[in-house]
Amino acid sequence: MTTRRVVLQTIGMTGAAGCLGGCGGGGGSGVPRGTATMCGANLCLDLAENTELQLDNGILFFDQAPGKKLFVRRSGDTFVALSAVCTHANCLIDWNGEDQFDCDCHGSVFNNMGGVVRGPAAVALRSFATSVAGDMVTITL
Ligand code: FES
Repeated sequence: MTTRRVVLQTIGMTGAAGCLGGCGGGGGSGVPRGTATMCGANLCLDLAENTELQLDNGILFFDQAPGKKLFVRRSGDTFVALSAVCTHANCLIDWNGEDQFDCDCHGSVFNNMGGVVRGPAAVALRSFATSVAGDMVTITL
């Protein structure tokens, strides 16, 4: 039995609140929507059903968790889960296909780990811890 271990860091917390339903931006429109289910208070996804995440640098968008929209990207054996809500004024960001997230509302850019590349956003994207057991990835919300 293979039990791979764990993950990530918490990059930062946002005060995101206002526009979680989307007040602009793409909100993952350029990224395929993955399949996931709630498992207790967390979000669980099966890699067998989310084949993009079987590949390094694969990325999917998830909106199955109530009140949360997020991207999950694979980096080697690590899964990075980031909020899709911009920390500047809560617009939804989009993956630009060039290893960064763009916010169309006011031009902020975030790197693939959620760090701010260009403002006006001053705070990194919210990051969620992830863990892996076999083909199941759990995102701690
Ligand atoms: S809401 Fe994203 S840059 Fe302003």
